[in-house]
Amino acid sequence: MSNTHRSSFSGKIGFVLAAAGSAVGLGNIWRFPYLAAKYGGGIFLLVYLILVVTVGFTLVTAETALGRKTGQSAIGAFSSLSKRWGFLGVLNSVVPIIILPYYCVIGGWVIKYLVTFASGGGSEAAGTGFFTGFVSQPVQPILWLALFLALTLFVVLGGVEKGIEKVSKLMMPALLVLSVIIAVYSITRPGALEGLKYYLLPDFSHFSFMTVIAALGQMFFSLSIAMGILIAYGSYTPKDIDMEKSVKQVELFDTSVAFIAGLMVVPAVFAFSGGDQAALNAGPSLMFETLPKVFDSMGAGNVIGFIFFLLVLFAALTSSIALLEAVAVTFQDRLGWSRRKSTLLSAAGAMVLALPVALGYNVLSGFTLLGFNMLDFFDFVSNSVLMPVAAFLTCIFITRVVGIETVLDEVKLSSPFKRQRSFTIILRYVAPVCTLAIFVSQLLSSLGVISI
Ligand code: TRP
Repeated sequence: MSNTHRSSFSGKIGFVLAAAGSAVGLGNIWRFPYLAAKYGGGIFLLVYLILVVTVGFTLVTAETALGRKTGQSAIGAFSSLSKRWGFLGVLNSVVPIIILPYYCVIGGWVIKYLVTFASGGGSEAAGTGFFTGFVSQPVQPILWLALFLALTLFVVLGGVEKGIEKVSKLMMPALLVLSVIIAVYSITRPGALEGLKYYLLPDFSHFSFMTVIAALGQMFFSLSIAMGILIAYGSYTPKDIDMEKSVKQVELFDTSVAFIAGLMVVPAVFAFSGGDQAALNAGPSLMFETLPKVFDSMGAGNVIGFIFFLLVLFAALTSSIALLEAVAVTFQDRLGWSRRKSTLLSAAGAMVLALPVALGYNVLSGFTLLGFNMLDFFDFVSNSVLMPVAAFLTCIFITRVVGIETVLDEVKLSSPFKRQRSFTIILRYVAPVCTLAIFVSQLLSSLGVISI
């Protein structure tokens, strides 16, 4: 495939902020806090941190190196190294195609809440039934989702350097500042101390096998591993950039935001619910139902709610930008379409696929696939099935097909690879076992054999 018109980042900070932008998203802000609360608080945090600096570091580095080495997006990257393995590139590329539509639906909900808080509707949003009332209307959620997608499209059309990089440079630092403000406010509420202790102090009696599985799954989602995006961003990265250091910075950013999100959510919800863990339940309900109630009870609900949803919007947008970029670059590289054409058509496709997801809460609510509503079905297929399989095969591909030296040499182009030894061991043995473990346990849990 022709590489002549590929865009690129301006330098190290461009890659770091854009990759961090793809990593920091809804996953950090609503998924991480409830998983941490559900799987033992401090002990989950500890397991998560260990996994990020070992398995996470290894896989993010390996994918970025594959992208930079081949200068191509996922499909081209795999098939240029081995013709027979082109299918793995397809597998990687399909994941963002599935995630983008439902991500935009949730992004639309975030804008709706932002506007509600901005216009002083905090108490209204805290009312029981507000969320259900909103999503069960057929038209309104579609309009918000279209707005979210349009914002995403606008940035991606701006290009890699002028659009994605520029927006990330603005939104990522802003996001960090806003989340520290909310976290400080949240942990200084009366009664928050107990929640803080639960969140920070590891209690080994809460440890179980499921702690590791949940932390692993969250880590893959959060770092956007095996989704084609790191390969694409790697291909935009200049050869002289210190990859080991950049990857560490991306991880630090992503993990810090997740950690701070836990500080925002866990103590506040603990205080609000009087220590009842059931209040920290999964999915949209924590962010869209419990948190508005918590904000409302705090006194300054409208202001805090507004700041909170603004930072969630920034996080969601930088991720959806990355998702659209990953989808668009696939068509650009494979079909030879112009960047503009593939971006526009990818966004149009995402809009069409997002419709059944949004309608799944109203017109199509009776319709389920494998017992899931549409949003959960898309989420299940992408994160529980395709992603672990793609990650597993990527480890095998690098260590058994092309040889690990291919990746090591690429990393060493710009600087010595300090963690080469642990990288090699993890990629050969630890990461394949972990990815298989996620796959098997997700499958068993979907069959109802175990509960995650
Ligand atoms: N990492 C993002 C988050 O934490 C979500 C995500 C998953 C993503 N896969 C992706 C973002 C691929 C960009 C590209 O919310």
